[in-house]
Amino acid sequence: MKTIAVYSVKGGVGKTTTAVNLAFAAAGSGSTLLWDLDPQGSATYLMQVKPKLRGGAQALVTGQTPVRGAVRRSAWETLDVLPADTTYRQLELTLDGAKKSERRVELTLGALDGDYEYVVLDCPPGSSVLARNVLRAADLVVVPLVPSPLVLRSLDQVLELVDDGDRPPRVLAFLTQVDRRKKAHREVAAELPVQRSQVADVAVPAAVVVERMGDHRAPLGSFAASTPAGLAYAELWRQVEKAARKPARH
Ligand SMILES: Nc1ncnc2c1ncn2[C@@H]1O[C@H](COP(=O)(O)OP(=O)(O)OP(=O)(O)O)[C@@H](O)[C@H]1O
Ligand SMILES: [Mg+2]
Repeated sequence: MKTIAVYSVKGGVGKTTTAVNLAFAAAGSGSTLLWDLDPQGSATYLMQVKPKLRGGAQALVTGQTPVRGAVRRSAWETLDVLPADTTYRQLELTLDGAKKSERRVELTLGALDGDYEYVVLDCPPGSSVLARNVLRAADLVVVPLVPSPLVLRSLDQVLELVDDGDRPPRVLAFLTQVDRRKKAHREVAAELPVQRSQVADVAVPAAVVVERMGDHRAPLGSFAASTPAGLAYAELWRQVEKAARKPARH
């Protein structure tokens, strides 16, 4: 079982979009679970799953609710969802008070070992105890970067947090929401993968079709696979799969 966390300290960069599209692509390689860890429940919504977590997030991460009972089938074969509901709002407090507070996500996933080839985590932004849980549980952290003058800062923030942990996962960043009409975007998309070894040479364009995932409530691969954004996510998955198979850094 390989755990892939889509994570950034920053909000609104495309984490959920990426988690849903990578999970769909992963399901083409092997059975996959998408775990929505965000009380907003956007990934749950996009996957057409009811935002109801039996027993709530607290009971799930403390082991009181068996994780298998909380998993839901999605409309797509080999792709299951662990949905989020509003109980995730209290998760920070729960984790803070729990034993092994930074390992609750890892231990919860441990109960699933063998059920899935891939687990994709969709995380809320921030650098709280939930983020430390997610980084601890992950084999690979995928970081969406939006071109801006501060783009390197958002990558470095993640790298710092990752290296803070005692079991640092690999990091694969990539550019998204790239508008090729803008010179600054074209420059960042050309230079960053050369400058920084963690940045994949794949850029997801800014595209209306990505926003339409919300109307379709579906991953790009299911309704727009051959658009530039759909193809970019397919290529990103190939690189993610390869990186996830490399031996761990720890
Ligand atoms: N490549 C893209 N082109 C156009 N719009 C995009 C693209 N990627 C993401 N978006 C849009 O940007 C918005 C934010 O994306 P998303 O919800 O995936 O970000 P997030 O990082 O998960 O946000 P949050 O921090 O709130 O969880 C959404 O409306 C989404 O449709
Ligand atoms: Mg999100």
